[in-house]
Amino acid sequence: MRLCFVFAVLVLFFCAVSAQRSNPCKKENGLFPHDQYCDYYYECENGVAQERACPNGLAFAGKSRGLIMSCDYPHRVGCPGQDGSIMGQTPIGTENCPWLYGVFAHQTSCTRYWQCWNGTATIQQCPFSLLYNDVLHSCDWPDNVPDCQKHPICKDQPNGHIPIEKSCGRFWLCVGGYPRLQRCPAGLAFSPTALRCELSQNVPGCEPPPTTPAAEDEDDSKVAGNQVQADAPPRRANNARPAGQFRAQNGK
Ligand SMILES: *[C@@H]1O[C@H](CO)[C@@H](O)[C@H](O)[C@H]1NC(C)=O
Repeated sequence: MRLCFVFAVLVLFFCAVSAQRSNPCKKENGLFPHDQYCDYYYECENGVAQERACPNGLAFAGKSRGLIMSCDYPHRVGCPGQDGSIMGQTPIGTENCPWLYGVFAHQTSCTRYWQCWNGTATIQQCPFSLLYNDVLHSCDWPDNVPDCQKHPICKDQPNGHIPIEKSCGRFWLCVGGYPRLQRCPAGLAFSPTALRCELSQNVPGCEPPPTTPAAEDEDDSKVAGNQVQADAPPRRANNARPAGQFRAQNGK
């Protein structure tokens, strides 16, 4: 008997909950969140709800809020939500954009990321020595980005000098785990063994080219194979650009 009573109460409770669910309009007019999906919402007019979809990749932020059409990046509005709400649309991907809108990790770079707007990707560069953190969808201190595709430069030497492969003049200076691109003074080269700038002629592979031109043709091949190549430009320095600067992928 008592069990029946408990059961009846439970049934009433669930009826009440589902009745509440079936009418998403909390007021006669306005925009209201969907009960399952972050990227849908209800537009209520005179108490009648119409389901609306956010632009692909964005989530409902509230009326007149967010980036576009009352929607914003999911991470900015807390999606997935604590109430279990998730993205409900199928991702529409383009090159470099898993969804039409959003902020996404670069395939190979730790310091860059993609910003996608209606399927058009624009490459963005983290300022200073920050790395892109795909959990926060923003640039972050390197030590907060353990799953970076490229090894963090200062991982093993948070305070030290790190050689740059194939570069004679440049090196990384790690300060508290953050790399800064440095250049040796003229005439010096970074020694990967001594880990400091030394006279170029003392750094194997970085010797300056001979100043006296080769006298005979036979020597030309030798000269051409000399260490002139060794001062090839280093890999692109990511932190050499000022904050906030970015390059449009398509030059738009
Ligand atoms: C998004 O791009 C498509 C074509 O790629 C275009 O038809 C549509 O109008 C664009 N939408 C917005 C909101 O810019």
